[in-house]
Amino acid sequence: MSKPLRKVVFPVAGLGTRFLPATKVVAKEMLPVLDRPLIQYAVDEAVDAGADTLVFVTNRYKHAIADYFDKAYELEAKLQEKGKSDLLAMVQGTLPKHVRAIFVTQPEALGLGHAVLCARPVVGDEPFGVILPDDLIWNTGRGALGQMADLSRAQGAAGVIAVEEVPHDETDKYGIVAATPVDERSAVIRHMVEKPKPADAPSNLAVVGRYVLPGRIFELLERTTPGAGGEIQLTDAIEALLKEQGKVLAYRFQGTRFDCGNKAGLVRATMHMAMQDPKLAAVVREFAASH
Ligand code: G1P
Repeated sequence: MSKPLRKVVFPVAGLGTRFLPATKVVAKEMLPVLDRPLIQYAVDEAVDAGADTLVFVTNRYKHAIADYFDKAYELEAKLQEKGKSDLLAMVQGTLPKHVRAIFVTQPEALGLGHAVLCARPVVGDEPFGVILPDDLIWNTGRGALGQMADLSRAQGAAGVIAVEEVPHDETDKYGIVAATPVDERSAVIRHMVEKPKPADAPSNLAVVGRYVLPGRIFELLERTTPGAGGEIQLTDAIEALLKEQGKVLAYRFQGTRFDCGNKAGLVRATMHMAMQDPKLAAVVREFAASH
């Protein structure tokens, strides 16, 4: 990738069944880690990576996400009137002024690959990022997607995919890659498979929810037939890109990933964020000591 990464896609049309009953009305991406919804962490990471166009692939149950990034006239006027400038800046800062949010719908839940394909009319033929907001990646320096965009430019790679080692018996929850190491953080992907059983997995290097992809992937997604779980898988389209000799790197990002798609991950992320704040850290310590 030689061009800067301007567009990032957020597939947010999932049902969030692991968080029912809350997700009957609250989009899972709106669940908070402390005071910020998951989607805010994802958006901040995209903006850090240089994006100015955010594409949310959503459905009719997810209006709250559009509302969240919209201007809140009444609230803003009230905060202004009361001189609460800190809160006003926070409310206005959900989306920086130079960034636009575009919403496209995924009419049917046909899989992650299909969700990404729904963004094609907005993304066109340029390189773009994908962030799955369930995977919250925390770090103090450049965000994970920004690290990947930098690597993609430096290496002239068609794509970069974030990976992490997972326990061998959990390969069937992830896309798994077989890759040839380049250095301690990156490797050239030879092969990729979606949710293999541990016995069939080519490694325990799992895809986590960050991708830098070329516009070419849309053409390949158009041709992708249902795969694992009967869904159109992004992993299968990337495998097709590899077959075309596309250079795709697996990248072990700097940062800590929390799988907020399940309760344990959301609890961990919340405790971790609390530990960053001295007052809340004292609460966590006191609670842990007395239980
Ligand atoms: C998706 C991808 C999978 C990847 C995972 C990361 O799966 O299909 O390759 O490893 O995200 O979170 P999902 O979790 O949507 O089933």
